[in-house]
Amino acid sequence: MEQNSKTNSNIKYYEVAKALIHALELKDPYTSGHSFRVYKMAKELGKLFDLDEEKQFSLEGGALLHDIGKIGIRDSILLKPASLTFEEFRIMKTHVVLGADIISQCDSLKHCLEPVLFHHERIDGKGYPHGLKGEEIPLIAKITCVVDSYDAMTTNRVYTPARTPEEALKELQRCSGAQFDHEVIEAFSDWWQDKNQKQENIIEVVSAGDLDLNLNECPSS
Ligand SMILES: [Fe+2]
Repeated sequence: MEQNSKTNSNIKYYEVAKALIHALELKDPYTSGHSFRVYKMAKELGKLFDLDEEKQFSLEGGALLHDIGKIGIRDSILLKPASLTFEEFRIMKTHVVLGADIISQCDSLKHCLEPVLFHHERIDGKGYPHGLKGEEIPLIAKITCVVDSYDAMTTNRVYTPARTPEEALKELQRCSGAQFDHEVIEAFSDWWQDKNQKQENIIEVVSAGDLDLNLNECPSS
């Protein structure tokens, strides 16, 4: 009986998450596949840390939904094919708070809160929305921040051409201890080198339409 209700809750979570990601991708096709790639990398990277089952589940869900608040950013800003003005960037930055608001409406998504709200915080305190520093930032948000940045750098954006994987890794390492957590960058670098040596694809381009999450991998929520 208890197992049934856990399974039902997980099905509900996945269904809601999948629908939300699909809505985001319809609005912003340039980032198609981004949410799922961040989810996949965060899931693998999280396993290199000593996260308990619940934290790992929160990391995966939060990574998947990290940019869901962009649904609330108007198209003239979200899809602008040029650099944002100061005021436009201020509005764009509200996506983390909007995202937290969206997921807080649904009990089965509440475990995703930390990565959604804090994935743009920086170790040096210069991030947003709260300017948290170092250990004030939850580990699962710091992991999401790194994989999100890696994917953003290696993907063609509206006005920014993609960097090579090697260039993106170097940039992450250059910003270690300032923008990114040192320990997370070390783990990411080791993971990246390992994938590179085995010639495995670090990320695959998948859209929410192909999102097929395995319920068996999902602990109780
Ligand atoms: Fe974001």
